Amino acid sequence: MARAITRRQCDTPAQSKDTAMATDTANPLPSPPGPAEGSAAPHTLNTGTALRRAAAHGAHPGADQPRAPGTPDEDAPLLTATGLTKTYGARIGCADVTFSLWPGEVLAIVGESGSGKTTLLSTVSGRLPRTSGAITYRLRDGTVTDIDDMTEAERRRLARTDWGFVHQNPADGLRMSVSAGGNVGERLMAVGGRHYGDIRATAAAWLERVEIPADRIDDAPRTFSGGMRQRLQIARNLVTHPRLVFLDEPTGGLDVSVQARVLDVMRRLVADLGLAAILVTHDLAVARLLADRMMVMKGGRVVEEGLTDRVLEDPQHPYTQLLVSSILAV
Ligand SMILES: Nc1ncnc2c1ncn2[C@@H]1O[C@H](COP(=O)(O)OP(=O)(O)OP(=O)(O)O)[C@@H](O)[C@H]1O
Ligand SMILES: [Mg+2]
Repeated sequence: MARAITRRQCDTPAQSKDTAMATDTANPLPSPPGPAEGSAAPHTLNTGTALRRAAAHGAHPGADQPRAPGTPDEDAPLLTATGLTKTYGARIGCADVTFSLWPGEVLAIVGESGSGKTTLLSTVSGRLPRTSGAITYRLRDGTVTDIDDMTEAERRRLARTDWGFVHQNPADGLRMSVSAGGNVGERLMAVGGRHYGDIRATAAAWLERVEIPADRIDDAPRTFSGGMRQRLQIARNLVTHPRLVFLDEPTGGLDVSVQARVLDVMRRLVADLGLAAILVTHDLAVARLLADRMMVMKGGRVVEEGLTDRVLEDPQHPYTQLLVSSILAV
């Protein structure tokens, strides 16, 4: 059962994220995971920085933080959504959602079916137009920009280079009849990769990184299992080193035994790459494993948010209490 997943240990100061990132930058062809990084000890998620940051910002990080447009600030949020609302005709998808996400932080959006998780994710990531509200994003040069002030071409470039999107159904995020290597290489070419040998070598290294056997590089993902497809989708998204990844129920369609491996790969990569992520899941065990902070949605609104450990151990809203007690009861 997913419940058996060992919880994160947030108080473990794992290897420096900065070191991990510096290593990664210096070596564009990623090295294979070390033996100690296997599935046995899911405790190396380096969330310490993000957790300290979130804790320092209190229960509503960012809400009271002054933003300084145009001013590089290492400690500023990566993304801030304010009053996000999306309606489908008279029906509410999500309503008045405000939050900030810090660099390297994993934020889980949890809630029952129909609570607005996907709507919120799609709206934040620009896949759905919002009805009202604003989104600001801190670019790599430190400038904070309102997404609405960007041209369509700039937004597309941002989505291609700085963001990744992992769909619940891998078929939505992969080209099913293009080879696995092609799926990964295509993304590199989209950001300017030209040298065939380099692209293929990087694609091969990434397949290894997501535990897909090297001899499957020329096979199309339609010949892959569900778990392999999902790991390929992760490789395709991360090969360009985005800073922010949107994950919509990334393990939702998978068998529980297969979920664990995908989650383990994801947990390791998020930590190694210092990625920020917004993760939609209805599974609190997944949120517990991956997320620094959680937002709980009901009826399109956020009813509670806070550090993952706090929300799970001391849920305040009756709905969160119900959610937490329902998993503990199983
Ligand atoms: N394309 C759409 N047209 C009309 N209503 C929609 C559409 N997409 C979602 N909704 C409605 O918006 C609300 C939120 O749906 P959403 O898909 O965001 O929920 P969710 O939390 O992701 O649910 P699930 O866990 O089942 O994926 C629901 O009432 C849903 O019926
Ligand atoms: Mg959904």
